[in-house]
Amino acid sequence: MQAPSANAVVSASPNRTAPRLPGRRPLGAWSELRADPLRFLTETAQRHGDVVAFRIGPVRAMLLRHPDAIKHVLVDNNHNYDKQTRAYDVLRQFLGNGLLTSEGDFWRRQRRIAQPAFHRKRIASFANTMVSDTLDMLARWDDVAGLGRSLDVAHEMMALTLRIVGKTLLSTDVLDAADQVGSAVTVLNEWADRALDSLLPIGFPTPSTLRAKDAARTLDRIIGEIIARRRAGEQAEDLLGMLMETRDAETGETMTDRQLRDEVMTIFLAGHETTANSLAWTFYLLSTHPEVERRVRAELDAVLGGRPPQAEDLAALPYLQQVIKESMRLYPPAWIVDRNTIADDEIMGYRVPAGTMLLMSPWVTHRHPALWPNPEGFDPERFTAEAEAARPRYAYFPFGGGPRQCIGNGFATMEAGLILATVLQRFRPWLVPGHPVVPEPLITLRPRGGLPMGLRAVPLQAPVADASA
Ligand code: HEM
Repeated sequence: MQAPSANAVVSASPNRTAPRLPGRRPLGAWSELRADPLRFLTETAQRHGDVVAFRIGPVRAMLLRHPDAIKHVLVDNNHNYDKQTRAYDVLRQFLGNGLLTSEGDFWRRQRRIAQPAFHRKRIASFANTMVSDTLDMLARWDDVAGLGRSLDVAHEMMALTLRIVGKTLLSTDVLDAADQVGSAVTVLNEWADRALDSLLPIGFPTPSTLRAKDAARTLDRIIGEIIARRRAGEQAEDLLGMLMETRDAETGETMTDRQLRDEVMTIFLAGHETTANSLAWTFYLLSTHPEVERRVRAELDAVLGGRPPQAEDLAALPYLQQVIKESMRLYPPAWIVDRNTIADDEIMGYRVPAGTMLLMSPWVTHRHPALWPNPEGFDPERFTAEAEAARPRYAYFPFGGGPRQCIGNGFATMEAGLILATVLQRFRPWLVPGHPVVPEPLITLRPRGGLPMGLRAVPLQAPVADASA
């Protein structure tokens, strides 16, 4: 399937005012955005095009759907765009000044320090942990399957990816704290969603804010203990170790506990929820597309023949990778990315005044009808190498782009591939009938109310060598 170029989609004469949402309302698009953000953004782009201006309360905003517009903001002119937006202010309430939320020279320094922890070779060394923690989880799934019960696959994936990020990047097994962390993250997610929609100042002491503060305290305690153990002499060559050892080039000082806490909190949260959601959506899509599931299984059988996967195997599992990519097209865990405009600019011929908040939504762009024929259809063939090469680079941006693109991209891609390969060789999860699967766009895109699935055990394969005998 070839997608046409998106260049024909919009042509604006230079420096015009962008199309505006019709109608004058005191709060602009605030109530529609609040009621159903995915629908509002999708319909706005469908009706008004690739660059649309509107207000959200007092804030001047623009929705950018076109890949060229997204590339302009995230890559070509990225210096003109920062993270001084309400969404990032909300995140700063509990992430502080970590890698995701900080800016300028401070961010550059932190990114430089953290980067080696995400080097391809280093990530490959995490593969064994990723697979063995998945096998641990599957041992529990055996019991559930034996009893004919169902479980919440979204919750299972959260606990699994949290454990993996804890072990690999912080050398800590958070198995016992997984439920506490999970509930705290849900409370913070829900609070962030409310705070984002609210017209009250961020942090205004509503009951939801008080609950969120409590949740943040729980996470602070868990993270504080991790840092304290390391300060007390526990050694590990991991991301936390790198952050702790680094000295400021000018002052020679190491990072304060506060800075470390912000970085660890960021990795803890950014490093598990997104991947967990991407896996949950993939299990959902596979259970509703048996022909795709069959093909993934055939590939796994041919390449692995029943043995647990290793990092090197992923290159030999192209269809599995296509499935994950297509799942993140339809259900991008980071469903929206926003920026503040520093100085007046021009995007695709439209004027963008300083102070405009730019909304770029993978959910919306990944459904652009000129780039993705039959946009709602689940079709991993869209991600063959040839089909990918035929599309503009920013038609697909689940990990953002430019200097602020996801540092965990390679980590997440490998983790998702290994977990899927391990689970699917042992189980066939099926969606519990009657449970409505509805995307809930909080900070990340979750299935609302979880994803209850039953488990059908797959007969064990003979190892590859035996199979050929
Ligand atoms: C499927 C999984 C993931 C998705 C979809 C995802 C998505 C994203 C996106 C879209 C951004 C850019 C945000 C922006 O530009 O405003 C981002 C940034 C970031 N992500 Fe991820 N992420 C994933 C997994 C991970 C993992 C596993 C880690 C860490 C272990 C991680 C850590 C971060 C950090 C630290 C940043 C900020 C980077 C910077 O600004 O320098 N992410 N992620």
